[in-house]
Amino acid sequence: MDTHTLAGKVGVVTGAGSGIGRATALALAERGANVAICDIDEAGLGETADRIKAKGQETFSQVVDVANASEMQAFAEGTRSAFGRVDIVVNNAGIGVAGLFVDVPLEAWTQILGINISGVVHGCHAFLPGMIEADQGGHIVNIASMAGYCQAPGMTAYGTTKFGVLGFSESLRAELSLHGIGVTAVCPGVINTAIVRTSRMYGLNEDPELREQGIRAFERRNYSPERVAQGILKAIHKNRGVAPISPEAWAGYWVKRLFPPLVAWFARRSARAQQQRSN
Ligand SMILES: NC(=O)c1ccc[n+]([C@@H]2O[C@H](COP(=O)([O-])OP(=O)(O)OC[C@H]3O[C@@H](n4cnc5c(N)ncnc54)[C@H](O)[C@@H]3O)[C@@H](O)[C@H]2O)c1
Repeated sequence: MDTHTLAGKVGVVTGAGSGIGRATALALAERGANVAICDIDEAGLGETADRIKAKGQETFSQVVDVANASEMQAFAEGTRSAFGRVDIVVNNAGIGVAGLFVDVPLEAWTQILGINISGVVHGCHAFLPGMIEADQGGHIVNIASMAGYCQAPGMTAYGTTKFGVLGFSESLRAELSLHGIGVTAVCPGVINTAIVRTSRMYGLNEDPELREQGIRAFERRNYSPERVAQGILKAIHKNRGVAPISPEAWAGYWVKRLFPPLVAWFARRSARAQQQRSN
C-alpha cells in the first residue's frame, strides 16, 4: 500500500493514548487518513483525538480494554459505522512485566497474555472479516518487540507474548496474502515511552531504584515513538513481514538469525549477573 498519501483511507490504532500508539495515529492522520483509536486511558485517548482533529482529520475514539473480545467487537462496529471502511489496523496496546519467572505471579501472566497476545488476536478477529469482505486489500500491523526474537532473563512473560505476536503475524501473513492484505510484525527496539514507568515489576525488579535506572536508560537512548511511527509507515509501504525499527532491533535480529548460540550465551550471562546482584 502506498503510504505517502492516505487520503480517503481509514486507520485503526489500539493503545493510542500514549507512546508508539499515539505517534502512529498522528502519523496516519498526517498522511491524510481518518483514524479510529482506542485505549483504556480515557484522558490520553482524548488528547490523541484532539491532536488528530487539529491535523484536519476525523477520528472515532472509544475506551476499550483490548483483552475484552466484546469491547473490541463493539469498537470495530463503531469504526465501520463512523467511516464505512478500514484499511490499516495497528494492534499496538501492550504492557510490560519484568521479573524472574519464579517471582512473577500467575495473575500477572494472565494479564499480560490477555493484553499483549489476546488483544492482538481480538483486533484481527474483529476487523478482518469486514476488510476481507470489502475486498480492497489493506494492512495489519502487530507490535511485537526485539524481545520477540532475542530471549532475555527477567523478561520471560513479556518475551513469551512478543514471540507469540511474531509467530501469529507470520502465520496470518501467509493466510491473508490470499486477500491482498499485508501483515507486519513490528519490533521497535528501546523506545522512549511510558512503558518502563508503567510496567509491573517483581522480585529484584521491584526495587524503585532499578525502575528509575531503566527509565533513565530509555531516556538516554532517546529513540522517539515518532521515529517508530515513520518506520511503521515504511514497513506497510514495503509490505515487510518483520520490521525491526531502531539500530539495536536490527542488530538483535541479525545476530539471532546468524549466531543464535551467541544470543543464548548472552542471556545466560545476564541471568548470572542478575543472580549476583540479588546475593
Ligand atoms: N517502548 C519500547 O521500548 C517498546 C519496545 C518494543 C515494543 N514495545 C511495544 O509497543 C507497544 C506500545 O508501547 P509503548 O512503548 O508506546 O508504551 P506506552 O505505555 O506509552 O503505551 C501503551 C498504551 O497501551 C494502553 N493499554 C495498556 N493496556 C491496555 C488495554 N488492556 N487495552 C487498551 N489499551 C491498553 C496504555 O493505556 C497506553 O496508552 C506495546 O505493545 C509494547 O510492548 C515497546
